[in-house]
Amino acid sequence: MKTTIPPSIKNDFPIFKRKIHGKPLVYLDSASSSQKPRQVIDTIKDYYEKTHANIHRGVYTLSEEATLAYEDAHRKVARFINAKFKEIIFTKNTTESINLLAYSLGLELKKGDEILLTEMEHHSNLVPWQQIAKRVGAAVKFMKVSQEGELVIDNKLFTPNTKIVAVTHISNVMGTINPIKEIIQKARSIGAKVVIDAAQSAPHIPIDVKELDADFLAFSSHKMLGPTGVGVLYGKQEFLEKMTPFLYGGDMIKEVKLEDTTFNDLPWKFEAGTPNIAGGIALGTAIDYLTNIGMHSIDQHEKELLQYAHEQLSKVKGITIYGPRDLKKKAGIIAFNFEDIHPHDVSSILDTEGIAIRGGHHCAMPLMKVLDIQASCRLSLYLYNTKEDIDVLVKALEKVRKVFK
Ligand SMILES: Cc1ncc(COP(=O)(O)O)c(C=O)c1O
Repeated sequence: MKTTIPPSIKNDFPIFKRKIHGKPLVYLDSASSSQKPRQVIDTIKDYYEKTHANIHRGVYTLSEEATLAYEDAHRKVARFINAKFKEIIFTKNTTESINLLAYSLGLELKKGDEILLTEMEHHSNLVPWQQIAKRVGAAVKFMKVSQEGELVIDNKLFTPNTKIVAVTHISNVMGTINPIKEIIQKARSIGAKVVIDAAQSAPHIPIDVKELDADFLAFSSHKMLGPTGVGVLYGKQEFLEKMTPFLYGGDMIKEVKLEDTTFNDLPWKFEAGTPNIAGGIALGTAIDYLTNIGMHSIDQHEKELLQYAHEQLSKVKGITIYGPRDLKKKAGIIAFNFEDIHPHDVSSILDTEGIAIRGGHHCAMPLMKVLDIQASCRLSLYLYNTKEDIDVLVKALEKVRKVFK
């Protein structure tokens, strides 16, 4: 049976020419960071060879071209999630996008206010809120996660004191797709602002911020075929206009006097200093690439692979899979343990077969506690993965078993 995207797509990704320990690379760690197509790599090279100059400063050709290309990348991201140009801020990564919000929105909270998170958050959507809450005396509350890896939405947690609800769209460990529409509606009914951590969703499924009615949404370029060092923060214009900047300095100002400063228009008010110009432009190329293939096709392809991977892994004796059993509630990420072999050992032996999977706590220590484990293996899928990749993994697990017999 064929999957939606043909295996020949790997030809666009130069890294797949590499051998690891003499074996073809089987890359199953895209939730951590994705590989890059030739088009994205070429954009970075072309930019530095032909266009580089600082943006928003010079009135000479190179500076104007670089400025246009960088601004155009914001437009591409805006179209990608159905937002306005002014609502797209480039940051360093998802972590910085969430820190921007934690500092800007969080520092305005006061004692008695509540921030509502979930037990399945990546540390990036937990630690910033936890630390800012300590400073201002706000409380942090958590939606629980069931043993099946699903969110337990308890109405009692949505109170008049809840000011911010920050939730991951898709769990980076178990692949659980959270009911964010329902969560947004609940937050709306009590007047709280909603922050969606879309690090694991924006690269994989179509996102429409208008349809979701999301207030803020954060994701990273490097997980969606783009370069490292670029992140995105979407925010509703009406909120961004009123918020105080997180970083101060050049480019984010309109007028500076010795006593005071007025800030630049959106989105530049939140982009202080010289940004990652090449990275931002190359994120635009990554968005073009994803859009050409189509986010619906990518979603469909990953669903087919997820089902296949579940079927094949379930046949392996000694595998425990975490997360929803109903695959409709799950994206292309599978956390599992194998016999009682430590995930680091499993990953190291798989590496000798050319297979890259992740072993560890996946930056979600509180979730490990809920699942009552120290760590897990995790495979994660993307548009360039094939059924053959899964077959190679399953076969290699038998080798791991033999080593530990
Ligand atoms: C759900 C989720 N949130 C946030 C992050 C942090 O992303 P970054 O390291 O790009 O800031 C990750 C990275 O794995 C993630 O999976």
